[in-house]
Amino acid sequence: MCGIIGYIGPKKIVPVLMNGLKRLEYRGYDSAGIAAITQNGIRIVKEAGKISRLEALLNDNEIDGQVGIGHTRWATHGEPTRKNAHPHYGCSDELALIHNGIIENYSDLKTQLESKGHTFHTDTDTEVLVHLIEEFYNHGTPLEEALRLALTHVQGTYGLVVISRREPDKLVTARQGSPIVVGLGKNENFVASDVNAVIDHTKQVTYLDDGEMAVLTRDAVTIKTIDNLPVQKKVVQIAYDLERISKGGYEHYMLKEIMEQPETIRDAMRGRLLVDEGMARLGGLDGEIQSLLYARRILITACGTSWHAALIGEYMLEEFVRTPVEVEYASEFRYRDPVLDNDSVVIVISQSGETADTLAALREAKRKGVKVFGICNVVGSTIARETDAGVYLHAGPEIGVASTKAFTSQVTVLALITLLLARMKSMSFTRGVEIVKEMQRLPEKIQKILESHEQVKAIAEQYCEATNFLYLGRGYNFPVALEGALKLKEISYIHAEGYPAAEMKHGPIALIDENMPVVFIATHDSTYEKIISNIEEVRARKGKVIAIATEGDEDIKKRADHVIYVPSTLEFLTPILTIVPLQLLAYYIAIMRGCDVDQPRNLAKSVTVE
Ligand code: G6P
Repeated sequence: MCGIIGYIGPKKIVPVLMNGLKRLEYRGYDSAGIAAITQNGIRIVKEAGKISRLEALLNDNEIDGQVGIGHTRWATHGEPTRKNAHPHYGCSDELALIHNGIIENYSDLKTQLESKGHTFHTDTDTEVLVHLIEEFYNHGTPLEEALRLALTHVQGTYGLVVISRREPDKLVTARQGSPIVVGLGKNENFVASDVNAVIDHTKQVTYLDDGEMAVLTRDAVTIKTIDNLPVQKKVVQIAYDLERISKGGYEHYMLKEIMEQPETIRDAMRGRLLVDEGMARLGGLDGEIQSLLYARRILITACGTSWHAALIGEYMLEEFVRTPVEVEYASEFRYRDPVLDNDSVVIVISQSGETADTLAALREAKRKGVKVFGICNVVGSTIARETDAGVYLHAGPEIGVASTKAFTSQVTVLALITLLLARMKSMSFTRGVEIVKEMQRLPEKIQKILESHEQVKAIAEQYCEATNFLYLGRGYNFPVALEGALKLKEISYIHAEGYPAAEMKHGPIALIDENMPVVFIATHDSTYEKIISNIEEVRARKGKVIAIATEGDEDIKKRADHVIYVPSTLEFLTPILTIVPLQLLAYYIAIMRGCDVDQPRNLAKSVTVE
């Protein structure tokens, strides 16, 4: 989704902006641009497509200056063309502006502004902002005041930065619903939509909250509310370094992140498993655990991969904690007026902590007076800050658009929460110890699966030309089937469906013929016999069977065309293992089809618009 970088300071402007944009590439975008205040006014250079195309344009243009802004756009209003790329300017070339979010009343504002003589150059909603600021940017009015007055007329969401030729010593930024972080340097300051864009230069940051704006000069940052009240902000130290956002020798971020999973799972459990007590400890829930424990109903809401993790959480919490759990897409939850009473609690799951629908669902739940718990990866993200309590994944930055390591960490954290609550209820000490010990073995078991990547690659070679795939699983592995199918369609553009294996008979079975690869998650657990019957049904119709099975299950070789083994584990923990070969399968198929796995078409890492 759109990315923002802004800089004021002594460094050469183009390298700082371009480096920031590259750090934001992972979010997904379809055009990019920069603007800088130079001796001869504001220079804007922008281009459709990848940042490399913008870079080629910049090589032919010498731009200097010490104040500038850069943007990657993910089209919402207007096609992804050079014209519609940010930065935008108004009727003169006095101002340049970049914006993430959506201006909901842009159409009304545009009509009003046109009637006042403004001429529009693009099809975007964003352009109204810069014309609106012009209306208030009278002689003697500072830029921040003109922006503030303009924003009182705006409905919608924004994280924006504006610069002015008239005041070349400042950047002005504001936030409502779209993240903005201010990076604090020595004799220089930065603004960005996420910390990755500034981490090359500083680890000291301040996050703006909704309704806040900031003025950045070289040596000062002043923050106030859009209602003109002063605010005091905390300076936060970013805990990770550049190494964690580099590819670390892998060809793609996605492969690196898949391969990192033994370590990221370990990080999710670090200091949280108490072997002697057969228990989990989650500091982020301290003080709030009682409301989770005594809830009569738990509602989990999320989007995409995080929603799949939520489904696994539902199975876990109902089996071990015996609390009724419902899982709902955040986009549905927010508009559906869900029944939430004093005995309900809500859990939101979000890797980025910025997904617009999940954030809106969280706010809706809080409005209804219930406690909201968060499971997030990005520390300091909006969702992490707005929930009453929560648990971080500690998976490190996830750059590949298709979520991999965050998923296994989310399921691990859900298992930890389940263990904690179950032990506070009826689970025995012995069972708790058994779970703790098994969880500790998960990293090495994932490592073992990763070592079979060449075998997965060979299977990918055979099926990379397929046009459809089915993924089937039961119980805890039904959500894994959904997630496996999602991975494949996201990055290879092959149509793939996930289904509960038994439901196949009620529709998808009609699709099966000799051209249909069917991936079964057929581990040796409580529904094993049933899933074997489902495999037979597919074989009877000549479908090709790829089975994910438990080590030692020789029998399944007779029934499947291909078998990928995973080590055995407790049934409720199997998703943490079974998803790994499916991530690899999607990755290799996508590579073989020549797809851009880290930045698949049309997708965004963090969907900050509805
Ligand atoms: C986007 C990403 C998905 C992700 C989903 C939810 O669609 O492409 O990979 O699962 O958003 O994101 P979140 O950050 O809230 O987990």
